[in-house]
Amino acid sequence: MLDLSGKVAIVTGASRGIGRAVAVLLAARGAQVVAAARGDHAASTVEAIQSAGGHADLAQVDVTDGASVAAMVAGALERHDRIDVLVNNAGIARDQLLMRMKQEDWDQVMATNLTAAFQCSQAVIKAMMKRRAGRIINVSSVVGQSGNAGQTNYAASKAGLIGFSKALAREVASRNITVNVVAPGLIDTDMTRDLTAKAQNDWAAQIPVGRLGSAEDVAGAVCFLASDEASYITGHVLAVNGGMYM
Ligand SMILES: NC(=O)c1ccc[n+]([C@@H]2O[C@H](COP(=O)([O-])OP(=O)(O)OC[C@H]3O[C@@H](n4cnc5c(N)ncnc54)[C@H](O)[C@@H]3O)[C@@H](O)[C@H]2O)c1
Repeated sequence: MLDLSGKVAIVTGASRGIGRAVAVLLAARGAQVVAAARGDHAASTVEAIQSAGGHADLAQVDVTDGASVAAMVAGALERHDRIDVLVNNAGIARDQLLMRMKQEDWDQVMATNLTAAFQCSQAVIKAMMKRRAGRIINVSSVVGQSGNAGQTNYAASKAGLIGFSKALAREVASRNITVNVVAPGLIDTDMTRDLTAKAQNDWAAQIPVGRLGSAEDVAGAVCFLASDEASYITGHVLAVNGGMYM
């Protein structure tokens, strides 16, 4: 079993869905998790981890606010003196056909899904460089690889994350820091629960594995990339999509 004992891992958007599952699994593998979310939204994630005997603390962050990101990372460093793993998971969708898309919906999606990963990575990189160790894992999407009508903003942000990760992976590889991407397919979370049952079934029919993914499916991939076992993997895009896009 992958052992993450002694590692300090920040997970953004840890209040629910994939971020919560990632935080829970990292903690179950022994990591000290910094569950970062807006307000006290991740409090129940922290409680769940602690009541299972794991280690977690709550951190407030709005990932679209550079000062808030800097304060969140500074606080984590103050409490734990190191950051081994950063999971850039927080994300939003504001779907609309290009013809009708508001600039605000473009800007908000880019700020949350792409610029935030830049800001969070920049905030942790110095501490990782100093220790000559680190793992950055960015949560992209199958949509960043395949495209999807009605999601030009979301697809651009998620494709941007892939380029960002590959470029950063080259910058920091010699310091034993890896930067990888997990690209989930259609995962059963609040983000997708708005889809009608029919739309969910139509989607599932296009997935070779024949079902939507779970947040735990994605968490397993993140945990692997965070582990020592993945130390020779960098700049990689790990699809967790049931074969939906190959
Ligand atoms: N669900 C899917 O099918 C799917 C597929 C591919 C990729 N993803 C990606 O996985 C990640 C998690 O998605 P999810 O399905 O768990 O969605 P979700 O909506 O359940 O969770 C998103 C999380 O991000 C947080 N968040 C949003 N904006 C934030 C901000 N400004 N500051 C701090 N936190 C913020 C939310 O509070 C929430 O905790 C996202 O990046 C999403 O794009 C999801």
